[in-house]
Amino acid sequence: MKIETFGLERWMTRWELHVEYDIAESGILPMTARELLNLLPQEEREPLLAELLDTPLGYSEAPGSLRLRTMLAETYHDTGPQNILVTTGAIEANFLLFNVLISPGDHVVAVYPAYQQLYSVPRAIPCDVSLWTLRPENEFRYDLEELRHLVTPRTRLVVLNTPHNPTGVALSTEELREVYDIAGSVGAQVLCDEAYRWIEMPDSLPLACPVRDLGEHGISVGTFSKPFGLPGLRVGWIAGQEELIAACWAMRDYVSLSPVKLSDALATIALGCREQVTTRTQAIIRQNLATARLWVANHADVVSWQEPQGGLLSMLRYNIDIPSRELADRLAGEYSVMLAPGSAFGYEGYLRLGLGQEPAIFAEGLRRTATCFADLGASGVQMTSVS
Ligand SMILES: Cc1ncc(COP(=O)(O)O)c(C=O)c1O
Repeated sequence: MKIETFGLERWMTRWELHVEYDIAESGILPMTARELLNLLPQEEREPLLAELLDTPLGYSEAPGSLRLRTMLAETYHDTGPQNILVTTGAIEANFLLFNVLISPGDHVVAVYPAYQQLYSVPRAIPCDVSLWTLRPENEFRYDLEELRHLVTPRTRLVVLNTPHNPTGVALSTEELREVYDIAGSVGAQVLCDEAYRWIEMPDSLPLACPVRDLGEHGISVGTFSKPFGLPGLRVGWIAGQEELIAACWAMRDYVSLSPVKLSDALATIALGCREQVTTRTQAIIRQNLATARLWVANHADVVSWQEPQGGLLSMLRYNIDIPSRELADRLAGEYSVMLAPGSAFGYEGYLRLGLGQEPAIFAEGLRRTATCFADLGASGVQMTSVS
């Protein structure tokens, strides 16, 4: 398989170990194993820790432990453990699904911009991929009329992601149902990357239900990376029809074989503590959102944004005549701040901001960004739009 370079990943790995103020991160501040265990009632901690330490580190149940699959299944309607495959992150879930669901020459509609895997892997298969583009002039909204025009009787799969990386837009259940119905009208399935499931903004409208809950052509992908702050576990999952799960499992035999046993166990603990984890996530978001609102208001001559409706990400529009890649490199190299270049998403004149960082680091990252903007202004760079 010949595949395009994953542009953003390459850029992030260039800087992420060198900057002090990473506010480009797409996840929430990761938890330590101790923090996770401390969410349990005191009397359960010691025995559980002993159980973890005594776990034989052999291969685990290949589709994920029955306990974890059962608990995940309970977060969907009409779903049992046979409808869940635990994977190595959402990234493996998506990869398996693309390889099982679509074949060379198939027509696929994929959201753009997006986590690049969502359109680059279908292109590499190679499928005929039509991009369903979210446009700044349309407030990055999913345009359902456009989807109606993009699908054809040849369309096998519609791929979307809500809440959305990188814009923070989110579909309602009614809108997701329309997507499901439009895909269904041509016999296509819907793969919804729900990596940001459960991450709501304070006072925002309720997020869509998982697409799995809409019917048998809906396939949900989830992960412990974003809502739980546990990307290092590398645990994600697929929720779908039993035959699809079996086919993805068969494909997985060639890729990663089974989940990591300790990761499966820690993910099970995290899912059991979902309420406490959500409280932690919401506290970080609330604080960073307040900081970002104030910062944008104080620098309204240079930046504007559309607050996320869900998830953790948003695009910051800046009003300085410098390409986003050059600006992001300058911020990282000279100010030790990481903000992802909008050009990686086809949005020139933007930087992607993540609300999941530790609040003091987040605030300092924004402060330094404002200093960079002021320095650019003082050095004579035009304060005009680049696009
Ligand atoms: C939309 C989306 N899907 C999937 C992934 C991959 O997540 P995981 O760590 O679960 O593999 C990411 C990571 O940033 C993402 O943003």
